[in-house]
Amino acid sequence: MKTVVLAYSGGLDTSVCVKWLAERGYRVVAFMADVGQGEPSTAAIRRAKIAGADSVIIRDLRQEFVTDFCWPALKAHAVYEGAYLLATALSRPLIAKHLVAVAHRLKAKAIAHGCTGKGNDQVRFEVTARILDPSLQIIAPVREWEFRSREEEVEYALRHRIPIEVSKRSPYSIDQNLWGTSIEAGVLEDPWTEPPEETYRSIRSPRRTSSQPTAVTIGFAKGNPISLNGERLKAVPLVERLNRLGALHGVGRCDMIESRVVGIKSREVYESPAGTILLGAHQELERLVLDRQLFQMKQTLGIKYAELVYGGLWFTPLKTALDAFIDETQRTVTGEVRLKLFKGTCQVVGRRSPHSLYREHLATYSAKDRFDPRASTGFIKLFGLPYEGKMWKVEDGKR
Ligand code: ARG
Repeated sequence: MKTVVLAYSGGLDTSVCVKWLAERGYRVVAFMADVGQGEPSTAAIRRAKIAGADSVIIRDLRQEFVTDFCWPALKAHAVYEGAYLLATALSRPLIAKHLVAVAHRLKAKAIAHGCTGKGNDQVRFEVTARILDPSLQIIAPVREWEFRSREEEVEYALRHRIPIEVSKRSPYSIDQNLWGTSIEAGVLEDPWTEPPEETYRSIRSPRRTSSQPTAVTIGFAKGNPISLNGERLKAVPLVERLNRLGALHGVGRCDMIESRVVGIKSREVYESPAGTILLGAHQELERLVLDRQLFQMKQTLGIKYAELVYGGLWFTPLKTALDAFIDETQRTVTGEVRLKLFKGTCQVVGRRSPHSLYREHLATYSAKDRFDPRASTGFIKLFGLPYEGKMWKVEDGKR
């Protein structure tokens, strides 16, 4: 009997995948990765068994997820199309890596996932799996099966007595982990429709946020977050705490149209409280300690980095090379940033570092000033010299 290791979430799609694969003669091993979406419930494990899974394997990947995936993306300032902090995208190569490892351990020749044929996740899972082991067969039941709608899928599940949680079923497709929540489909498919109140999943909606601001101080060492309000914390609890604080104030929400890998535009709603706070803090610390050339080069490379993460190209040479570059830039990214969370916003209000490039005696307008303004005279003359007397005009009618 052929063994297939399925990336199993416990939701409707992957539960039906278990049955579908079992019906086709596979011994199905359901692999559940804990990336902070909430502990795999006993109901989900039971559901896999009832659907015909031979066994369920659970791995707590939270620590690896934060330190090896979220931190590098944070240091790169990886934000896709200027808005998406890539929570879902970052988790896929990690899950795929462990999926392949489990397949190797069990000597399975095939892996499977429950992604649809028009999303990015199929690309991320499969590209990663093929990088790691191109000999593995990859099965994507959702791309192949006969169900035309969610209703047909539910009907199939009921027919096979797979206990699906009808009450818990939301009209949205939701993916969650420590770095954020992705919410799509349902009424969100109309890009003009405002996301309803119930789309606030991990954070409070603006009308329910706290009436008092909360101040937070984040400490960084070589670009990695290490403390919260002066208290040293490990990566996972640090992110968890920031998620809770950010959630109280509705921080980190984004509603956007994005360009998917497969060429379509889709409407997405994201929540990334901890990510948003950490990104705001990290960027500000870099403004303090990096010279302008390095800062600006990093900005442009961050766009590339985000594109690689989004497209599932995590385990690739360019990504590895970019990490090496970024780590080099982080040598002086040590210090603290103070922020205020309030009514959906997260504002930097203070920053300090032993590597600060800020010189008060040069910046001040007070009597302590040591800057020589006469030096500016010659500087400006030479700086503007190439353009003197040459006013460029767009000729009428030529545009
Ligand atoms: N569009 C987002 C991305 O590509 C979110 C995907 C969400 N996945 C899901 N199964 N709901 O990363």
